[in-house]
Amino acid sequence: DKNNFRHYMEKEIFEQPIAIKNTLLNRIKHGKVDLSELVEEHATVLAHVEHIQIVACGTAYHAGLVARYWFESITGIPCDVEIASEFRYRNPATRPNSLFITLSQSGETADTLAALRLAKTIGYISTLAICNVAASTLVREADLVLLTKAGTEVGVASTKAFTTQLTVLLLLVAKFSQIKNKPALVEKQIVEALQILPNRIEQLLSSADKIEKLAKHFADKQHTLFLGRGDEFPIALEGALKLKETSYIHAEAYAAGELKHGPLALVDKNMSVIVIAANNHLLDKLKSNIEEVRARGGQLYIFTSEDSDLADADSKNMHVIALPKIEELTASIYYTVPMQLLAYYVALIKGTDVDRPRNLAKSVTVE
Ligand code: F6R
Repeated sequence: DKNNFRHYMEKEIFEQPIAIKNTLLNRIKHGKVDLSELVEEHATVLAHVEHIQIVACGTAYHAGLVARYWFESITGIPCDVEIASEFRYRNPATRPNSLFITLSQSGETADTLAALRLAKTIGYISTLAICNVAASTLVREADLVLLTKAGTEVGVASTKAFTTQLTVLLLLVAKFSQIKNKPALVEKQIVEALQILPNRIEQLLSSADKIEKLAKHFADKQHTLFLGRGDEFPIALEGALKLKETSYIHAEAYAAGELKHGPLALVDKNMSVIVIAANNHLLDKLKSNIEEVRARGGQLYIFTSEDSDLADADSKNMHVIALPKIEELTASIYYTVPMQLLAYYVALIKGTDVDRPRNLAKSVTVE
């Protein structure tokens, strides 16, 4: 049932505040992250984890990429992320005391399942599935499970499953910061950022019309480039994937620092360039990348915070979408939402089958 929404994708984008709230429910107690739902005999291994290997497909892979920034910078645990279809066929080497984490909305993705089955035979300390479907094969077969509580996701383009995966991953980061005896402040900041996040997204969604107005700029485009840095780089990848899937516009994402290493050659006055410019320590670096695009006449669309010094930079060929401010820890989750909205509104104009894009299936149960 779509309630008053035109499509499931729209409904599911707008459900994200509640989906995140549900995912946090009973997992924060007295200001601390509580994952005691993890089965005892396996949960004790968490204290021995020295490496994390994340494996997933598509959008779930992008969630893994974000988590890597968090795990390494916050907990100091080395983390690698790989696409399941590659991992399963390359005879991967296992690091000592490595935890295998797999992410999946459906829990039935063929490559993801095969990667989990392989992982169970090659010496991981344990396997953890982060999944949205409690009755799925992945959940049944993993040693440890953390469910995302997004509710049923119908739209083929994944939205609320992604942001709730990131929510669970951030809870797990907080858990590891406890285990690794990081300062209590680290966990406190994560908990506070997560608790306020549903409200922050609610506020952002209340001005979705700002993003809807932009959609017409993209409807007749052949190509769009997405740029980001740090944990917003995977959000650029996710934004590009959403636009491809729903609007059939060729979209590519790059880490902004890679511009000079090739993609800048594509930039001329016909190229739209979307920049995710959260207000963090990388903003100055990003500003030089924005200048590089500007100097070549590219059409810039900059998603930034209303308290960043880019907020007032709106000018010819440079559209600035200034969003309410957000905690740095959850910025990647937050900036996902305007990317989803843009993809959705562009698809509306193009009249594509938003909930069931051509050639795609909701659950990829065959290779
Ligand atoms: C993109 C999308 C796909 C899935 C991928 C994995 O919007 O939905 O890329 O993320 O097929 O599916 P799950 O998460 O079910 O394993």
